[in-house]
Amino acid sequence: MSTVDRFLLAGVMGWPVMHSRSPMLHNYLFARYGLAGTYVALAISPENLAPALRGLAPLGFSGCNITIPHKERALAIVDDVDDVARRIGAISCVTVRPDGSLAGTNNDAFGFIQNVLQQHPAWRADAGPVAVIGAGGGARAIVYSLADRGAREIRVVNRTLARAEALAHEFGPPVSAFAWDERHLALDGAAMLVNTTSQGMVGQPSLDLALDTLPLQALVCDIVYVPVETPLVAAARRRGNPTVDGLGMLLHQVRPAWKAWFRLDPEITPELRAHVEATIPRTTDVAG
Ligand SMILES: NC(=O)c1ccc[n+]([C@@H]2O[C@H](COP(=O)([O-])OP(=O)(O)OC[C@H]3O[C@@H](n4cnc5c(N)ncnc54)[C@H](OP(=O)(O)O)[C@@H]3O)[C@@H](O)[C@H]2O)c1
Repeated sequence: MSTVDRFLLAGVMGWPVMHSRSPMLHNYLFARYGLAGTYVALAISPENLAPALRGLAPLGFSGCNITIPHKERALAIVDDVDDVARRIGAISCVTVRPDGSLAGTNNDAFGFIQNVLQQHPAWRADAGPVAVIGAGGGARAIVYSLADRGAREIRVVNRTLARAEALAHEFGPPVSAFAWDERHLALDGAAMLVNTTSQGMVGQPSLDLALDTLPLQALVCDIVYVPVETPLVAAARRRGNPTVDGLGMLLHQVRPAWKAWFRLDPEITPELRAHVEATIPRTTDVAG
């Protein structure tokens, strides 16, 4: 990887933001590649989002990541938004261009697909029906990425049916909406299951989902990464399903961000993963 002759500055804007693993992740890479730079957690309240984004250029930032709750509002503030972010309806990454204007994109979909392919290189989106649990911001990126990779049937199940229906209406076929009490049946014959709800996160109850109708060869993914192994992933692994945890999705988003910000292409190595993983509870039991 080539080096650069300047102090590299980036960060993540969120509210709250101190839980974010991103500063540790990016600062590890600065150290690993011997680069002068830093990545900071920026606690930005919703009313300060626009001035904070406008402050990136004069402060010398190359860009920033955007996390909860700013992903949708930031899309309306930046100067340009690419097609991926527009279709997802949210941005996860802002780049400061040489003229100081701001470009927004969404790397969640890229991170999800790269993570699945790294762990299961033969995976195909069109292998069979995909059941997506949840219809929030994360789900929008997952549905976009699956449709983009050629999935023929995407069953979106959400506690609030109207949100799943809105997603199905917006993305059209292959997306269909299922009510929450249909969630167990929606797994019947699926080739893949993705949890995009907050259920299973540390501090939240496990996802209430019976896997009985899910074929044993179906790939089970969770985008929650705290804990690394959610109760859903643990249950799927125990019954013999192949699984993918959510941490790799976060890690893989670093590459397009660094490319846009610094024109650098860092490697997502097992050492990087181990460095971040060491700070995250392995299971909810460990988290207590
Ligand atoms: N690995 C990564 O890189 C990555 C990226 C993005 C997000 N994530 C993770 O994904 C999770 C969701 O994030 P998000 O941005 O999509 O959040 P969000 O937009 O707030 O959506 C939350 C989703 O969870 C559902 N939900 C919440 N409480 C529930 C309950 N008690 N029972 C059933 N469903 C419930 C919501 O359903 P309703 O519509 O009914 O409220 C909604 O579908 C978080 O844990 C986040 O950290 C990970």
